[in-house]
Amino acid sequence: MVISSHIFMSTLHHLILIFFISLLGTSSYLQLIKPVSCTKSPIFKCSEVERKALLSFKYNLTDPSGRLSSWVGEDCCNWLGVGCDNNTGNVVKLDLRNPSWFDGFDQYNKSCLGGGNNLIGKIPNSFANLCNLQALQLRGNNINGGITEFVDGLSQCSNSSSEDGNLPSMQEIDLSFNQLNGTIPESIGKLSMLVSLNLNDNQMSGTIPESIGKLSMLVSLNLAHNQMSGTIPESIGKLSMLVSLNLADNQMSGTIPESIGKLSMLVSLNLADNQMSGTIPESIGKLSMLVSLNLAHNQMSGTIPESIGKLSMLVSLNLADNQMSGTIPESIGKLSMLVSLNLADNQMSGTIPESIGKLSMLVSLKLGGENSWEGGKNSWEGVLTEAHFLNLTRLKSLSLYMESSANWKLVLNAKQDWVPPFKLIDLQLRYVRIGPTFPTWLTTQNELNLLLLENAGISDTIPHGLWKSCPNITFWSLSNNKLRGQVPYFEFQPSAYYIDLSFNNLEGPLPLFHSNLRHIHLDNNMFSGPIPKNIGQLLPNLDWLDLSSNSITGRIPHSFGMLKNLSFLILRNNSVSGKLPPLLWKDLQRLLILDLAENNISGNVPSSMQYLRSLEVLSLSQNHLDGEFPSFFRNYSNLQSLDLGRNKFFGKLPTWLGESLPHLLRLRLRSNFFQGDIPQQLCLLSHLQILDLAHNDFSGVIPKCLGSLRSNEHEGYYVDYDYEMLLVSKGIEYGYGQTFFNLVYSIDLSSNNLSGEIPDNITSISELVIMNLSMNHLIGRIPNKIGNLQMLQSLDLSMNELYGPIPQSLSSLNFLSRLNLSFNNLSGKIPNGDQLQTLNDASIYEGNSLLCGLPLSTKCLEDETKHMVPPNGGNRVANENGSAGINSFSFYVSMMAGFIVGFWGVCSTLIIKTSWRQAYFRSFDNLKDKIVVFVMVKIVCLLRKESERN
Ligand SMILES: *[C@@H]1O[C@H](CO)[C@@H](O)[C@H](O)[C@H]1NC(C)=O
Ligand SMILES: *[C@@H]1O[C@H](CO)[C@@H](O)[C@H](O)[C@H]1NC(C)=O
Ligand SMILES: *[C@@H]1O[C@H](CO)[C@@H](O)[C@H](O)[C@H]1NC(C)=O
Ligand SMILES: *[C@@H]1O[C@H](CO)[C@@H](O)[C@H](O)[C@H]1NC(C)=O
Ligand SMILES: *[C@@H]1O[C@H](CO)[C@@H](O)[C@H](O)[C@H]1NC(C)=O
Repeated sequence: MVISSHIFMSTLHHLILIFFISLLGTSSYLQLIKPVSCTKSPIFKCSEVERKALLSFKYNLTDPSGRLSSWVGEDCCNWLGVGCDNNTGNVVKLDLRNPSWFDGFDQYNKSCLGGGNNLIGKIPNSFANLCNLQALQLRGNNINGGITEFVDGLSQCSNSSSEDGNLPSMQEIDLSFNQLNGTIPESIGKLSMLVSLNLNDNQMSGTIPESIGKLSMLVSLNLAHNQMSGTIPESIGKLSMLVSLNLADNQMSGTIPESIGKLSMLVSLNLADNQMSGTIPESIGKLSMLVSLNLAHNQMSGTIPESIGKLSMLVSLNLADNQMSGTIPESIGKLSMLVSLNLADNQMSGTIPESIGKLSMLVSLKLGGENSWEGGKNSWEGVLTEAHFLNLTRLKSLSLYMESSANWKLVLNAKQDWVPPFKLIDLQLRYVRIGPTFPTWLTTQNELNLLLLENAGISDTIPHGLWKSCPNITFWSLSNNKLRGQVPYFEFQPSAYYIDLSFNNLEGPLPLFHSNLRHIHLDNNMFSGPIPKNIGQLLPNLDWLDLSSNSITGRIPHSFGMLKNLSFLILRNNSVSGKLPPLLWKDLQRLLILDLAENNISGNVPSSMQYLRSLEVLSLSQNHLDGEFPSFFRNYSNLQSLDLGRNKFFGKLPTWLGESLPHLLRLRLRSNFFQGDIPQQLCLLSHLQILDLAHNDFSGVIPKCLGSLRSNEHEGYYVDYDYEMLLVSKGIEYGYGQTFFNLVYSIDLSSNNLSGEIPDNITSISELVIMNLSMNHLIGRIPNKIGNLQMLQSLDLSMNELYGPIPQSLSSLNFLSRLNLSFNNLSGKIPNGDQLQTLNDASIYEGNSLLCGLPLSTKCLEDETKHMVPPNGGNRVANENGSAGINSFSFYVSMMAGFIVGFWGVCSTLIIKTSWRQAYFRSFDNLKDKIVVFVMVKIVCLLRKESERN
């Protein structure tokens, strides 16, 4: 038993060794294939042809660090990077890999900075003259251009030094990490000695030539990180020596050819990040040497073939982010070497087989979502029991992100006294039901570094012992459970940086213990009492503090001023009181988001807040703050959202607002005592999406330029991901969710003293969703083009002094769901139309004595005309008494009543001026329409004369 497992391990090590050799380039294979047997190196000069070819290469390059300075003189065999055959003196090797390559990125970059180690240039045509060349290594330079001429040239070499006597001797081409483009020529198939081809990380495009199948010596093919497209040629199956195939991160499409099963030496297959589709061929089971299979981020579908169980050497299987369906085959349990299994983000379902518990080598298991922000798309169900983990003694990482829609169909059910065989380092479960009691087996996981149990249905207290038994945790999230009681004291280790206990029912004092934590999310709980006065000393590295929606009282402690790294401070919706501390802000120059809304803070905004120059979001709404609009806000040149709503601010709005805060998306000053004009300069805020000045004392006219508040350019949208997340979890007032907030455009100027007309060009803010101008003294007509606001959902113009008709165009607003025109002096018939008909609450028109028509009970004049024609349907009467004329008129009248009001006005002019009438009719294309309209005008005009006579 011991011996056999030892053999297992050594086989594994051996395989992994081969695997790495194949990944790290193939110079060792070269040695195997062409052993060098020279005792001393004779002195020769290289051939003139080869020397010239090398020199022409040199002249085509820029060489900032002078790497090719030794390339002078006759004997090119002594030049740096040039290797000659010890017997013939031919140039057989050119190794100009970037020398800083293995020194890590920093060093590589530094070398670049100091003039650069990169050789920049093209592969010259003359290079093809290096017919004796066996190895060309140019990794990590800036060689550009194509490889076609070079390969074509090589393919025409007939070479004396190769075994065959007349074949190109090239064995290794490593042009990886350059800027090569163009396609791989068909002639590549003639380089029949080629062992390794590495074009990794260039900009190669086109398809893989069918001729690739002729490279019968090929051991390693690496075309990863290019823009290769098309399908994998069927001929790939002829590469019987192939050990490593890497096509990752291209645009390859089509299915994996069945012939892949013939690659009996294949150790590593990487097709990740392409657009491969279809099913995984059953023949995959024949790849008995396969150690690593990576098909992640493609569009593979179908089920995992049962034959997968035959890959007895498989160490790593990654199928993440595909459209795989079905369940995991039972045969998975046979993959006794498997170290890493990733099936995240597929459409797999059903129960997880117990055989997974046999994978005794497994270290990492991902079955849910890969991305922690999104749930996984797999929808597993059933119960995970101790059997599923029976032999997973090496398991270190378990990640199962499920979607909320999965509805806790997957349950992890272990006995309270379960002692798992593993010691996890990283455990991430979301929407996997573990509760209602706290999983006590966690206390055995003393190596745990990252613990995330979100939406796990745990409605228990946090056990006292937990913290002590898991001392290495640096990242905790237990959010969205129903955890209750107090949080036990915990001594975090110095590297701990993240804790999220948000959205639970935790209570008692805030658990802000001394630590190096950077992120603390305690929002949406029932914590009470004050923020510790010494928070600055307790949490010196704090970056993000969210205590919103608790019951915190007391003042904002002065020691916040010590938190120089603080960038998010969110205390919204608590009972924090007192004044804003006058001095602490000076050192908080990193603060991006300051949200103190919905508290009991009073006094004015201290001038030391001028130092918060990085601020992007400032919300002070719903407090008792007063004072004038702070002049130092003009220092906040990155501000995107300013909310001072529901306070006691007063005075005029400064005119610099538009210039100094160019990134402002949201300006909310609602419910204060601001007065004076709305400054014209506000129109300079070209990214503004929300303008809310309601319930103030603004007077004067609505600036005409407001129509230019139109941000078509969405590159002006700066709010980053985290900020959006913040808005989601906080729920902005009005209940706008994340996406809605991005899209909504709203102007609310209601309840002020504004006068004058509604500017016509307000109708050019075509994205406008909400407009509320109610409770002002606006006069004039409703702009005729109101119908241009096609996105409008809510329009309130009530309680003004507007007159004239309601524009017909209003009826074309398909999304309008709230309308209020009450208490104005509007007149004429209420237009009808699809959407307006659904708004049939008469109160939205009330207080306009001259309005008529539905839904009001006041009938319009043409309604009276209906009484002049037979009441019970014109047509039938017409048929009875044979007088078709007048009855078809009445038919039109009843059918198209809406037209009449509109024509009422034009009718007199039409009668007076015949030429106008003709022009008017010309605008109707359809003859039938013309006739109908003509008849209607006639009838309306007749009726009008009639009514004037009465
Ligand atoms: C030629 O011989 C020298 C000295 O023995 C050796 O270092 C070198 O690697 C040999 N060159 C080739 C290309 O085999
Ligand atoms: C699994 O574990 C059990 C008991 O722990 C052991 O008897 C068995 O041999 C193990 N199976 C494998 C495949 O390792
Ligand atoms: C803020 O702006 C005012 C006026 O523009 C200026 O005097 C002051 O120095 C600025 N403060 C900071 C901290 O930049
Ligand atoms: C418009 O504003 C007024 C006053 O602020 C408010 O009462 C009314 O509800 C708002 N109308 C809509 C449709 O939101
Ligand atoms: C319309 O506005 C008036 C006055 O502002 C208000 O009293 C009424 O409730 C509003 N009607 C609707 C349906 O919102």
